[in-house]
This record gives sequence, structure tokens and C-alpha cells, in this order.
Amino acid sequence: PSRKFFVGGNWKMNGQKQNLGELIGTLNAAKVPADTEVVCAPPTKLDPKIAVAAQNCYKVTNGAFTGEISPGMIKDCRATWVVLGHSERRYVFGESDELIGQKVAHALAEGLGVIACIGEKLDEREPGITEKVVFEQTKVIVGNVKDWSKVVLAYKPVWAIGTGKTATPQQAQESNISEAVAQSTPIVYGGSVTGATCKELASQPDVDGFLVGGASLKPEFVDIINAKQ
Ligand code: G3H
Repeated sequence: PSRKFFVGGNWKMNGQKQNLGELIGTLNAAKVPADTEVVCAPPTKLDPKIAVAAQNCYKVTNGAFTGEISPGMIKDCRATWVVLGHSERRYVFGESDELIGQKVAHALAEGLGVIACIGEKLDEREPGITEKVVFEQTKVIVGNVKDWSKVVLAYKPVWAIGTGKTATPQQAQESNISEAVAQSTPIVYGGSVTGATCKELASQPDVDGFLVGGASLKPEFVDIINAKQ
């Protein structure tokens, strides 16, 4: 596709100064192809060729919301992206489609880029309701986006996250997101992507990049950044 290849590394709640320091050294020295956009969450001393994303934000500018962070505060830390609707937010912290939609609208209005996540659980895939679930999740996001230029949609089947069960290239390709959205915004895949699987996945015409968890904490993340080369 003509859209820029996008590779996100979601470090989640991992790492200490020392091992992140080593990883950052590896990434800062890595070759990043000019036509690939690389974003990591959370923020540390990364070279400017790698943008920084927060892993969540709230839906309003300020107020009595203990423990939350606003898009304005994220921008204050010079991060430019936020991950929203991650399945860990949806299913560990009980965030609803509606709340995620509100967060997407507010983060975009504040000028952040949004990595908006969708994806079915195993108990939704098995009875064959993947399409319905992904459609509902996407519909709420679509209803809250006016300008798609700063949105990346991440299709991340929950059964493939951190399990070593990567979706097949065909499953990653067939996430069935509306044609209009697919034409205008990058759709990236997440779920057990590794240095070993990234090239075949990246060769699918509708896989525009990745959102990587576990492997983004390892030097092989550089191979994933270069998956399209
Ligand atoms: O945000 C990233 C996804 O949760 C994928 O995580 O690559 O460890 O499966 P994973």
C-alpha cells in the first residue's frame, strides 16, 4: 500500500532504568527506514526518529480524576501519540466502547495521534461473532473521528496477545474493517508479532504495520521495524 508502514512498540508495565537503557541504546542505533513510522510507549530518552506514545488518557482536560492523565499532560511531556482501547484497558479495567470513543474524540481534539485498538476474544471468535464484535468496536471509534489523518487502527485479537499464538497472515488480513476506513487510515496488526513472523505478516496487502508488545522489549524490535525492507 502507498500508506506509510507503521510499527508501534507497547512496552506496557515493564522495564527498569537499566534494561530499558540497553534497549533504548539498541533502538537509537537502529536503522529506521525513511518510509516507516516508529512509535514507542512509554516515554524515555528515545532518539527523535522514534515518536513516543502514552498507553492511555482520560476524556477531559482536567479535574478531580485521581490516577488519570489528560492529553494535554501527555503533550506537556512531549509525547505525540496515545494508545486507546487496548484490550487490557477493555477487559482488565472494564473500559466500555462508549468511554473509548469519548477518549478518542478528546485526544484527537487535543492534537494527539491515536492508536485505537479493536479485536475479539477467543470466546467471541469460536462462536463466529468476530465480525460483529469488531464492527461494533470500530463503529464507536468511527463515530468519534472527524479527521483520520492522525489515527492508526490496531487490530489485536485478544487470544493472540502475549500467547505466542499469532493470527495467520490471512486472519490478520481479514479483520473486515470498513472499506472507507481501510482506504484512508493505516490498519496494523498486534498479537505475538516477533522478528520471525513479521515479514510474512507485513507482506499481506492490508497489514500496514504492527503494534508489538513482548517483542518490542527485545532487540528483535529492530527487525520488526525493518519488516518491509
Ligand atoms: O499492544 C500490544 C499487544 O497487546 C500485543 O502484545 O506482542 O506481547 O502479543 P504481544
